[in-house]
Amino acid sequence: MKEVSLGPPDLRKVLITQNRLQERVSELGCEISQAFDGTDLVVIAILKGSFIFAADLLRAITIPCSIDFMGISSYAGQPGSGVVRITKDLDESIAGRNVLMVEDIIDTGLTSNYLLHTLKQRNPASLQTCALLDKTARRLIDLPIAYRGFEIPDVFVVGYGMDYQQAYRNLPYIAILRPGSIDPDPEGNQSDE
Ligand code: IMP
Repeated sequence: MKEVSLGPPDLRKVLITQNRLQERVSELGCEISQAFDGTDLVVIAILKGSFIFAADLLRAITIPCSIDFMGISSYAGQPGSGVVRITKDLDESIAGRNVLMVEDIIDTGLTSNYLLHTLKQRNPASLQTCALLDKTARRLIDLPIAYRGFEIPDVFVVGYGMDYQQAYRNLPYIAILRPGSIDPDPEGNQSDE
């Protein structure tokens, strides 16, 4: 990993370049297209963090599929609680359909675990997870991740849809935030995932 000079001073280094992201997303799109060929696939993007990944992944999927969105908000005052509030629910029923839930990053796994549990109650034919990033070192719950972009170390990352206090989502690469830039949130404010 190379130390580079980045615009925003809070960023330490690029962890995953734009080119590497594109390559890996293409590979995932091919794998998913093969696996779901001939099925009724609905991709569910979890907002906000996965919106850029999901948009690129959709364009790398070559079979017919549909997309739906679920918005969730975590309570930053309860880190690691897995408590999420659904701020935007799905538009379509997923009963009897093959669902691929698309996440930006799986950290402790509590959020995904909650979402999988919620979606399962709606009786999909199948339910699988695709996560761009996997921070395995911090996992608290064992989760099956059918499609995974990259395993990353225990660092806080931003860019390619992921934020720190709503900033940096527009970076076309994934960068590590300087540890000193991360403030705890004692107010218990909510943050969009
Ligand atoms: P988990 O419930 O601990 O797995 O947390 C998952 C959610 O936390 C992700 O969907 C992100 O919104 C957020 N998150 C975890 N780690 C990071 C990070 O390094 N950067 C940005 N968001 C993160």
